[in-house]
Amino acid sequence: MSASFYRQTRLVPATAEAIAEAAKILRAGGLVAMPTETVYGLAGLATSDTAVAAIYAAKGRPAFNPLIAHFADSASAAGEAMLDSRALRLAAAFWPGPLTLVAPVAAAGRVGLLARSGLDTLALRVPAHPVAQALIQAVGAPLAAPSANRSGRVSPTRAEHVAEDLDGRIDLILDAGPCNYGVESTIVACLGGPARLLRPGAIAVEDLEKTLGERLDRAAPEAAAGPIAPGALASHYAPRAGVRLDAQDVGAAEAALDFAGQLRSCGAVSYFELSPGGDLAEAAANLFAGLRRLDSQSVRAIAVAPIPDRGLGAAINDRLRRAAAPRPDDTLSGTLYA
Ligand code: TXA
Ligand code: MG
Repeated sequence: MSASFYRQTRLVPATAEAIAEAAKILRAGGLVAMPTETVYGLAGLATSDTAVAAIYAAKGRPAFNPLIAHFADSASAAGEAMLDSRALRLAAAFWPGPLTLVAPVAAAGRVGLLARSGLDTLALRVPAHPVAQALIQAVGAPLAAPSANRSGRVSPTRAEHVAEDLDGRIDLILDAGPCNYGVESTIVACLGGPARLLRPGAIAVEDLEKTLGERLDRAAPEAAAGPIAPGALASHYAPRAGVRLDAQDVGAAEAALDFAGQLRSCGAVSYFELSPGGDLAEAAANLFAGLRRLDSQSVRAIAVAPIPDRGLGAAINDRLRRAAAPRPDDTLSGTLYA
């Protein structure tokens, strides 16, 4: 299996020359991991079904899980989909930035069917990260980019995380240091009628609702696993160790993922503090790095301190619930989930 993937993967600083080279690789149908303000993305040409198939293969992602198309600016995104008044208002307020809008695809759209998994809707995002911006502009076409992790693993917030998961499977990793937000974009569907939250993420729901002047519909977690957000599968961000939520104490063979020092004096074999001062943005930025760090210590389970559910806490708790969900056996070998 690995022989058919094998590629020489280079990890390089995201200089202007490296970005130009990455653009060349992408135009030729290759795969490049790029930094964004949320997490690192595994980019390929969204317009090429061959490039998109290579993304699915490198991740081991099931083909029914659609990808986000990344654009350099709102104008090019708007050409690909039918943005209603709510979508336009959100785009004006939050693009470029960590918001993904799902909208009906435009007839003249260039994004291929495979990137959309055959859906007649498209997920669009205009990232704010200067390297992602420069790269998309240099390529001159939208880039499909799921998080640059193997399927079922936590999202990468540093270039080294990408290398851990995808070395030998992609062409190039552009290193621009740690990502600012550390959790993925918030996904909102605008399909006529009230906008609907499909995935909590880096932009707080409260801020979206303030811009819209109305409440978002919230998909029930079970509904979110259905056809409308096929990527929101229950067990998703899975470390190898078990994950125990809302921990008030830490067991013998457990590591502690702490928030605001709640588990500090429990004597955990390994300990990671998401935010000593209880800052939810700082905790979000540290979340995936913390899970990876503790998971690398071969502990039986990770005990997670309670985290308030307001603001970015909603996105953090959503990811943690998925990490803690019961997993089908295949997920442990990283083959089933995105
Ligand atoms: O921050 C992010 O959004 C990162 C960076 C790289 O941009 N990307 C990311 O992509 O998180 P990914 O593939 O890991 O997650 C995309 C999610 C999936 O849950 C997928 O099911 C959902 O977006 N999605 C994509 N197209 C959709 C559509 N047409 N309708 C509903 N959900 C869609
Ligand atoms: Mg992902």
